[in-house]
Amino acid sequence: MKNLSIIVAIASNYAIGKNNDLLWHISEDLKHFKKITLGHPVIMGKKTFESLPIRPLPGRENIVLTDVAGETIPGCTMVYSISQILLLCKNKEDCFVIGGSSVYKQFLQFAETLYITWVHKAFEADVFFPEISEKKWQITETEKHHSEENNFDFSFVIYKRKK
Ligand SMILES: NC(=O)c1ccc[n+]([C@@H]2O[C@H](COP(=O)([O-])OP(=O)(O)OC[C@H]3O[C@@H](n4cnc5c(N)ncnc54)[C@H](OP(=O)(O)O)[C@@H]3O)[C@@H](O)[C@H]2O)c1
Repeated sequence: MKNLSIIVAIASNYAIGKNNDLLWHISEDLKHFKKITLGHPVIMGKKTFESLPIRPLPGRENIVLTDVAGETIPGCTMVYSISQILLLCKNKEDCFVIGGSSVYKQFLQFAETLYITWVHKAFEADVFFPEISEKKWQITETEKHHSEENNFDFSFVIYKRKK
């Protein structure tokens, strides 16, 4: 789907979270996330929504996926299936899948662009991102950075789906 992107920060061992929280705090990455997603609909699983320090995320339509029929969260658009989201996004401009692990796994096949923050360090975790296959994805942009607060390197990398 042309207008559907995934945005995620991934450790070198594909780790993305533990105990329903992130594995790091990288100020530059939070700014990068805001810059890319602001003004656009963001799609997330209910656990990721519950893990957000400020929720709903301001300045963006928050689309929350749940199996609990009829559940509502003030300020959010509730959805109950992947197909419902795909239908909803058809009529919008850019939409961003922002996690978590279960939602990334279900949406990777539909995304056209991946905004990956690669954290160049391995972490112990309980949730992971699925493999990004070189056969299916090509890198179009890479920008390397160093996090002073964490003392590790990270890179902003954009992937496009191969034709
Ligand atoms: N590193 C990163 O960039 C990043 C980004 C986001 C999240 N994370 C991390 O990822 C972890 C959370 O991921 P997670 O996989 O445990 O949870 P999640 O994907 O955020 O949420 C899972 C929940 O979403 C709902 N859901 C998922 N698929 C559905 C479907 N097809 N139909 C209906 N409802 C559906 C269900 O909610 P109900 O239970 O209500 O039915 C399910 O329990 C946390 O550790 C978080 O910090 C990391």
